[in-house]
Amino acid sequence: MKRIVVLISGNGSNLQAVIDACQQKKINGTLCAVFSNKADAFGLERAREAGIRAHVLLPADYASREAFDRQLIAEIDACAPDLVVLAGYMRILSPAFVAHYAGRLLNIHPSLLPKYPGLYTHRQVLENGDEEHGTSVHFVTDELDGGPVILQAKVPVFDGDDETLITARVQHQEHAIYPLVISWFVDGRLAMRDNAAWLDGARLPPEGYAAED
Ligand code: GAR
Repeated sequence: MKRIVVLISGNGSNLQAVIDACQQKKINGTLCAVFSNKADAFGLERAREAGIRAHVLLPADYASREAFDRQLIAEIDACAPDLVVLAGYMRILSPAFVAHYAGRLLNIHPSLLPKYPGLYTHRQVLENGDEEHGTSVHFVTDELDGGPVILQAKVPVFDGDDETLITARVQHQEHAIYPLVISWFVDGRLAMRDNAAWLDGARLPPEGYAAED
């Protein structure tokens, strides 16, 4: 059984989707630990409720980003994970962290990358009058929100939408596609090579997997 560690900073609705998918055997893996950089992250309660060890590491307790990430690596590696999943983990990773988990580090970002890397994606979509929005699951590289995209889900933007409505619409899709991509990884179907994502031995296009039938 492949071992999965999840990093969170907040509500943890994506974590919940992964917990549910593991329990329903849609993901052939086991969640061995959850880490948060915020003590009040609701996702910690979700983890404990599911019987998963939940740890808090506070950046204020460390002299630098590098020192924080060194400790985080040590604690994550105590779980010997095959895969590290960022699920609303809102902290920039040091290059050493990214290098340590290269090829087994996934993130979900609430935009149709490469559009809108960084923060406030929903607000920018509304301000720019976009008709389409969405979310992307990608491998993590040193480029912020810039690693190879594996799968995207698109949502429409309707007249009268506000940030709350559009966030909910995007997250509904996230809860479907993140567990799916994680299942591909734990089943050995997905890999990162030559700075690209590969599924079933085929190099995915820049926008990620798109079914052809
Ligand atoms: C998700 O929508 C995720 O895409 C986003 O944070 C939210 C976390 O929600 N991640 C980022 O913005 C990362 N740059 P959750 O805590 O309920 O899963």
